[in-house]
Amino acid sequence: MSYTPNSSRYSEMQYRRCGKSGLKLSAISLGLWHNFGHVDQLENCSDILKLAFDRGITHFDLANNYGPPPGSAEENFGRLLKRDFSGYRDEMIISTKAGYTMWDGPYGDWGSKKYLVSSLDQSLKRLNLDYVDIFYHHRPDPETPLEETMAALDLVVRQGKALYVGISNYQPIEAARAIQLLKEFGTPCIIHQPKYSMYERWIEDGLLDLLGNEGVGCIPFSPLAQGMLTDKYLKGIPSDSRAAKAHGALQENQITEERLVQLNQLNAIAESRGQKLAQMALSWILRDDRITSVLVGASKPEQLADSLACLSNTTFSKTELDQIENILM
Ligand SMILES: NC(=O)c1ccc[n+]([C@@H]2O[C@H](COP(=O)([O-])OP(=O)(O)OC[C@H]3O[C@@H](n4cnc5c(N)ncnc54)[C@H](OP(=O)(O)O)[C@@H]3O)[C@@H](O)[C@H]2O)c1
Repeated sequence: MSYTPNSSRYSEMQYRRCGKSGLKLSAISLGLWHNFGHVDQLENCSDILKLAFDRGITHFDLANNYGPPPGSAEENFGRLLKRDFSGYRDEMIISTKAGYTMWDGPYGDWGSKKYLVSSLDQSLKRLNLDYVDIFYHHRPDPETPLEETMAALDLVVRQGKALYVGISNYQPIEAARAIQLLKEFGTPCIIHQPKYSMYERWIEDGLLDLLGNEGVGCIPFSPLAQGMLTDKYLKGIPSDSRAAKAHGALQENQITEERLVQLNQLNAIAESRGQKLAQMALSWILRDDRITSVLVGASKPEQLADSLACLSNTTFSKTELDQIENILM
């Protein structure tokens, strides 16, 4: 049966400006790193995407290597875009990236112009698109001159293959240089995608200040620490969870006894706020207005619905913030 999106999809979502750019993103964005590869069920992927779109999520984040196998998340997304969402491309912000190993030989990894331009061409074929909205350099390359990598981002915008560009996993000093170079090229860096959660706080040591001052947006990834910052592991490891899957990036041994004690304490604070732990973990990130959007993953539509409920309470009292800090110390 053909899909008709919910007509009130824009009424409840918040849209936040991406730095000082003209672009607004939904406060929650959906990432396709896990759960959208050829190893996954296409109809479940379709259900998650429809739920997302019905609830006002406009931003869908991919990368050349998402799957498994690498490339298959872009292929599946491209297929579903054509089948379920034809006519809605202009209501979506679709991003992809290059920077990690994608193909053999010296041109399938890191940050050369050769790699970035060819990789985006391949991504566009898999996605069945003429252009992506945001193209990222996925991680800094210690060998390629930053000028070359940023020139490649500038080039793909001038070629019409991307509307905006961003960087991911760049530390503050290298991010500052990249932002400056892109400014000089006339293709501003509009967004940075770093790892950030209650368990991963490095962006508080300079990166958020830099992005705030430069007017660059910030979209944290793995905000739930890949599912750890939810109530799912409190009573053991569910067989359908990321920690239990052979291709999941979360390892069982990361869910330590010490973590479980913390998670139970955090869960109690979430309950006192009338939230689930996952919702509180997302609200906690959105409390800072330098954050444009939070980039979540989901293996089921119900999880995404659950996460979206964080939007009804994104403010914290000083006491709550102090209690959370004490637990995380
Ligand atoms: N730029 C980069 O280098 C980089 C790196 C990593 C990720 N990313 C991006 O960030 C996106 C999100 O990363 P992530 O998937 O690690 O994010 P995450 O939101 O921290 O983890 C998502 C996982 O948490 C579980 N989950 C989600 N909502 C839940 C809920 N309400 N209740 C219980 N469990 C819930 C699910 O795990 P189960 O599978 O166990 O059900 C889901 O697959 C990626 O898809 C990608 O777009 C970027």
